[in-house]
Amino acid sequence: MSTAYSAVGWNRQKKIYDGWIAAFCITYLALFISLTLLFNSEATFETILIRSTSTLAVLLLHIILSIGPLTRLNKKFMPLLYNRRHLGVTMFSFAAVHGIFSIIQFHSLSNTNPFLSLFLSNTNYGSVPAFPFQTLGFIALIIFFLMAITSHDFWLHNLSPIVWKTLHMFVYAAYILVVMHVMLGVIQYEKNPAFVLILFTGSASLIILHLLAGQKERKIDKMKFKLKEDGFVYVCEADEIEDSRAKIFCIDQERIAVYRHENKLYAIHNVCKHQGGPLGEGKIVDGCITCPWHGYQYLPQNGQSPPPFKEKVSTYDVLVNNNKVWLNPTAYAEGTERKGASL
Ligand code: HEM
Ligand code: FES
Repeated sequence: MSTAYSAVGWNRQKKIYDGWIAAFCITYLALFISLTLLFNSEATFETILIRSTSTLAVLLLHIILSIGPLTRLNKKFMPLLYNRRHLGVTMFSFAAVHGIFSIIQFHSLSNTNPFLSLFLSNTNYGSVPAFPFQTLGFIALIIFFLMAITSHDFWLHNLSPIVWKTLHMFVYAAYILVVMHVMLGVIQYEKNPAFVLILFTGSASLIILHLLAGQKERKIDKMKFKLKEDGFVYVCEADEIEDSRAKIFCIDQERIAVYRHENKLYAIHNVCKHQGGPLGEGKIVDGCITCPWHGYQYLPQNGQSPPPFKEKVSTYDVLVNNNKVWLNPTAYAEGTERKGASL
């Protein structure tokens, strides 16, 4: 929350999260290795290592890319969002083990430098069945590497949230590269269609989840607010907003969160200063609006982070009349104190 650099702080929640990630990965690897030894006793140690880490990385990548739309569709998935970057770094680590061991296995015995061999041993870029699929995996790995090393908040502050977010949106480009890497690779190495089928199902599920989440977002954006009085717009009935929670309204293309706290309503800009998380999807914890993504906090009455933190968001005027909530979409300067509307 602070603009000053601080080392990663470990709290109980983060440790539990990481514990679950470790347990999941160990179970997956144990299952993969046991099943491979059972059904393919001729598989070498290198092959098992290359395949178990690659498939685990792809599975983790699907989980990572599902978390965003899942939390938009159902708040119960919110805990998964917390520290999603630990999951990202874990995914990169397994992908790196796969990439490094593939280079050792397939390129270290030639006279050429293994990295040059990766690019020069196969230059059939015009052929689908013989396409040099490993180069696609290599480019994807470089993107994951850049994302992993810039995942800390230190980089978020130094690169600025917009640059950081843009860099991290490259995960979708990397995902497409991985899909092509696997599809084109499987054509060359594997006769078993299971890989293609599993990957196709994973990609289809991701596309459907993103479409459903986008549809839900568009519903909020399309809400029409017709009734107007003195710059105030009628938005909802007061009892539609639960205590310590908010409802989000999109007026004039601006998203505003109206929070209910201690029998009053307060309105603040919906976009968190950290990475643009939806503040209206969070809740009030210890008297502060708490962002659902990584826990940045803001006071409802002025949109300021509690000291010593310095983040601020815009505030708005809100009125309640006969249980009807009226919102003025004209923003006050970030951090401006508003008295809220008594219920
Ligand atoms: C330097 C980068 C990479 C290289 C050199 C590389 C190389 C390879 C090779 C040689 C295979 C076929 C292995 C075999 O069938 O035994 C393969 C398959 C595969 N790769 Fe990669 N890869 C790289 C990066 C990645 C990345 C970043 C991912 C995903 C995050 C990935 C996921 C897969 C998967 C799922 C398969 C199919 C399963 C398997 O055979 O291991 N690879 N890769
Ligand atoms: S986006 Fe990270 S705390 Fe809000």
